[in-house]
Amino acid sequence: MELAQCAYDIHIGAGLLSDAALLRAAIAGPQAMIVSDEQVASRYLGRLQETLATLPGLSYDSVILPVGEQHKTLSGLTPIYDALIASGAGRDVSLLALGGGVVGDMCGLAAATYLRGVDFVQLPTTLLAQVDASVGGKTAVDHPVAKNMIGAFHQPRCVIADVETLSSLPLREYRAGLAEVVKYGALGDREFFAWLERHSAALLRRETALQLEVIRRSCEHKSAIVAADERESGQRALLNFGHSFAHAIEAVEAYRGLRHGEAVAVGMVLAARLSAHCGMLTDADVSRLVALLTALGLPVRVPSELSADDLIAAMQHDKKRRAGQLHLVLLEAIGAARLVEFNDAQALRAVWEDNS
Ligand SMILES: NC(=O)c1ccc[n+]([C@@H]2O[C@H](COP(=O)([O-])OP(=O)(O)OC[C@H]3O[C@@H](n4cnc5c(N)ncnc54)[C@H](O)[C@@H]3O)[C@@H](O)[C@H]2O)c1
Repeated sequence: MELAQCAYDIHIGAGLLSDAALLRAAIAGPQAMIVSDEQVASRYLGRLQETLATLPGLSYDSVILPVGEQHKTLSGLTPIYDALIASGAGRDVSLLALGGGVVGDMCGLAAATYLRGVDFVQLPTTLLAQVDASVGGKTAVDHPVAKNMIGAFHQPRCVIADVETLSSLPLREYRAGLAEVVKYGALGDREFFAWLERHSAALLRRETALQLEVIRRSCEHKSAIVAADERESGQRALLNFGHSFAHAIEAVEAYRGLRHGEAVAVGMVLAARLSAHCGMLTDADVSRLVALLTALGLPVRVPSELSADDLIAAMQHDKKRRAGQLHLVLLEAIGAARLVEFNDAQALRAVWEDNS
């Protein structure tokens, strides 16, 4: 299956890591550097290398990063630059991001900055990366006090999502990916949201046809929004629904607590509750969101050990702040989101405290 709504193609299918013709077309120059993490490399690096070995005239190397969001830091990029320099990589090198969103974000930022910008290809292996992180060209690393604070817009040359890799994904990671899928329905597609409600049990059974459908529909949503607003000057900000809250949770937990998708699930509930608090959203719609996330096995409450003071302080670093004002994505209905300048500190505190 191929989507071409943005400037590059998104290929979705089974066995694509073994598709030599696809990889040949994706890698423009004579040299490639695979970037992966230890867990993904142990399963899929060999498969990718076998395919690359069949491509005439291509030399390739690999750099393997430690696993986890806590390593998505500026210093965590050093091994990638070291490997590129050691291999003599020039401007015609292509970086291949083989892994989840952490690898994709780090490899993407390394590609954006090495020699002021080289090609990279996204080879996402988590559901979260296949439905969201690999598409759209946002690359970043975290700062200790704020997530994704250091980054660049740098579009991949293409995205190749091999759904076969999802078979080894732990259930918790799979569920975390479903949170970003729910996001697309909640912010802009009421019919898709209802479809997810009807198929929640089958989604948890991880039926292949359904997974393909979910990835295709999610990538269509994201690429349509990104194509209209690549650098997030308007509509793209809606994709951050739930994320201002989620990023605060992740930073306060020092990136070692909830998975990103789990934090997004909690964040969407908080944003929905705040929307209801402001009279924008009905309680019935809040309950629908909570029910769907719960049915998918996702958390809907803030971890009780976190303090509202710390979370509110962390929100002050939100990237959507403008002129000192917090901008939040709130809901008017399931399927209708709006970016709102928000300055009701009491309401914000109440939502954090009520939900922990
Ligand atoms: N750039 C963007 O637009 C964007 C969008 C959404 C999220 N993100 C970022 O993505 C990151 C989260 O991504 P994630 O949830 O994929 O996390 P991740 O990359 O940490 O992967 C989750 C875990 O699954 C393992 N794994 C990956 N693929 C596997 C497979 N096929 N089989 C077995 N194990 C596998 C990894 O080793 C890791 O332990 C966050 O840093 C978030 O900020 C970026």
